[in-house]
Amino acid sequence: MNRNVWDIRYLFEPDGVAIIGASTDSSKIGHTIVDNIMASGYRGKIYPINPRGGDLNGIEIRTTIKDPDIGNVDVAVLSIPSKFVYEAVKECGEKGVKFLVIITSGFSEVGNSSEEKRIVEYATDHGMRVLGPNIFGIYSANADMNATFGSKNVLKGNVGIITQSGALGIAMIGKTAIEGIGLSAMISLGNKSDLDESDMMEYLLKDDNTKIIMCYIEGVQNGERFLETLSRITRRKPVIVIKSGRSKRGAMAAASHTGSLAGSDKVFDKVMRQAGVIRADTLDEAFNWCKFLSQSPLPRGENVVIVTNGGGIGVLATDACEKYELKLLDDVRLMEETYGDATPEFGSVKNPVDITGGARAGDYDKALGAGLDKEGIDAVLSLYCETSTLNVENLVKMIEENHHRYNMKGKPIVFSLVGGEKVARAIETLTEKGIPIYGDVDEAVQVLGALYRFFRFRSEPAEAVAEVKLDIGKVRGMIKRVKDDERTFLLADEAKELMKVVGVTMPRSKVARNLDEAVRYSNEIGYPLVMKVVSRDIIHKSDAGGVALDLENEEEIIDAYQAIMTSCRAHDPNARIEGVEVCEMVKKGVETIIGARQDNNFGPVIMFGMGGIYVEVLKDVSFRSVPITRTEITRMIKETKAYPLLLGVRGEEKKDIDGVIDTIIRLGSLISTCREITDIEINPLIAYDQGKGVKALDVRVLLSKEKGV
Ligand code: COA
Repeated sequence: MNRNVWDIRYLFEPDGVAIIGASTDSSKIGHTIVDNIMASGYRGKIYPINPRGGDLNGIEIRTTIKDPDIGNVDVAVLSIPSKFVYEAVKECGEKGVKFLVIITSGFSEVGNSSEEKRIVEYATDHGMRVLGPNIFGIYSANADMNATFGSKNVLKGNVGIITQSGALGIAMIGKTAIEGIGLSAMISLGNKSDLDESDMMEYLLKDDNTKIIMCYIEGVQNGERFLETLSRITRRKPVIVIKSGRSKRGAMAAASHTGSLAGSDKVFDKVMRQAGVIRADTLDEAFNWCKFLSQSPLPRGENVVIVTNGGGIGVLATDACEKYELKLLDDVRLMEETYGDATPEFGSVKNPVDITGGARAGDYDKALGAGLDKEGIDAVLSLYCETSTLNVENLVKMIEENHHRYNMKGKPIVFSLVGGEKVARAIETLTEKGIPIYGDVDEAVQVLGALYRFFRFRSEPAEAVAEVKLDIGKVRGMIKRVKDDERTFLLADEAKELMKVVGVTMPRSKVARNLDEAVRYSNEIGYPLVMKVVSRDIIHKSDAGGVALDLENEEEIIDAYQAIMTSCRAHDPNARIEGVEVCEMVKKGVETIIGARQDNNFGPVIMFGMGGIYVEVLKDVSFRSVPITRTEITRMIKETKAYPLLLGVRGEEKKDIDGVIDTIIRLGSLISTCREITDIEINPLIAYDQGKGVKALDVRVLLSKEKGV
């Protein structure tokens, strides 16, 4: 293998590891790390470094990493106080170390960002990459290397875990071992001063021993790169993400509806789903999914069958199937044909198959065996309610055997056992054997739901990104003019001009500088009309009394003009009023809102929802990142309550959904190619009957504060 092609491999499969701060004092972290590396069976060279020298577990401690007798060092783990780290990094650079794993705390997490920056800069300039600082280390099964100060007891397996929280990560090493979840890697990210989750995923993607990736993150710094990385992984390996902090911080100061509705978590949630990530709310959920998904084959189709010995848990499972979007097989003939012989007369062959309370392990064997080879049965939920006939040994044997024969067959099966002490014993034994088993029916159905989410995502046909080519030169010219005028927002007529270039239809209108012009333009456009104030200082026009609707004739135009001027001056006596815009009064339709903005984490995102003046109260909006496919735009629309309205209620005609999609594509293309635009919002975008198009009534465009274009 040409290692240059795949640099990150040096971190996971190093030839030599130095531990700077290796101590003979067993209470020190540097000591534990050497202990753990040795205990895990690492086959490369281990170089403990400490100026005191000596011997650690039979290995000579070198006084400096520059010792010429030290061979190739791909990874140096630093466990020394922060004030010594920079000098040690310099020595690593001289030695030709490739990766620095900096355990030490006391950097940007406590405000000492300058020292962290100094270290990373030095490392980068000298061809080294930095993991951390402020981490518990890295475990890599491919190198049998446990370079952490966590538990020695790591189970080798196929789950790769990336964690931003150190303490949680250490706890996870212990928990995975107890739960029987084998690890291919466990990486602590800490302050992410250089390497981040995307870098780690690059390795885990290519690593054949990693079947599933679990990632605990608190915040993403380079979200666009993260999404790009995910786009290459999630069709191949399931990625489970747990993100803490569902707060709305960061969105509060936003200047548009889109901004204030784009609570960081709301965007994160939708964007992760779009990227094919399965998001878990709790650690238990994530572990349950990891355990099942890392072992289960993928289904071939959607038909799920429940086999149970109790009607009650069968009903619970049926409800849970709806909740987790699983489809229960409802082909009565196929069910009868498959389970007829395996079900007592007083049982039920309908889905859920009830083999009744008297069922013993052998009866389960028979019923599960009947579904094993059957075409059209794609996954099985096997539920067991404790009864007096329970024999723990037989039950464990039955589950173990069926778990293996279903896996061999390539058909998913999940087991759930509900009951008391005997059931608890059976669960314990099965967990020790590494077999996924759930004491709660809901959990069992949920893990199958997670498997199906991955299955469906990877089965979706690949689709080209939906975008339009825009005359970006023209757009940039417009933006330059606004910036030259030292503004970060577009006036109504400028926004209108921009929409013309982008290809979004707006009602006919003209800006009048005085009453005479207002009257003249109104007569040109034709009645009924709307009049709106044009002022760079009045952003919320309705609130300022700057809008008049349904103006039928010249007289009403004159009255409205005077009323608008009076109210706006009262609202803000210093506001600069350029005039009014007279605008064709548009017919009624379904009011939607379309937003596009540069998200702090994920770059260009788009928003769709129910429009009008109540958007922020209704909060009926959904988000996606750009680039985006047409299917994903349709999904975004369907997530909102605007969708049934667009389909037409109470005999109404279906609305022009294609027109809405087209507008979203256009705004998405604009926001992703023109990063100087921070926010665009069309509210409302009126959708008319199918084939009759859409019209953008009001458009707001904000620009970044940075100078120049
Ligand atoms: N090169 C090699 N060894 C060095 C050294 C250097 N430049 N400078 C100091 N050392 C030695 C020390 O002499 C000591 O060895 P000794 O026990 O033989 O005297 C050893 O390195 C460790 O230094 P010490 O000063 O004893 O520090 P420590 O072990 O108490 O603490 C850290 C070091 C890194 C553990 C500590 O500073 C720290 O950051 N702790 C928090 C770690 C953490 O929580 N990380 C995040 C987890 S999620």
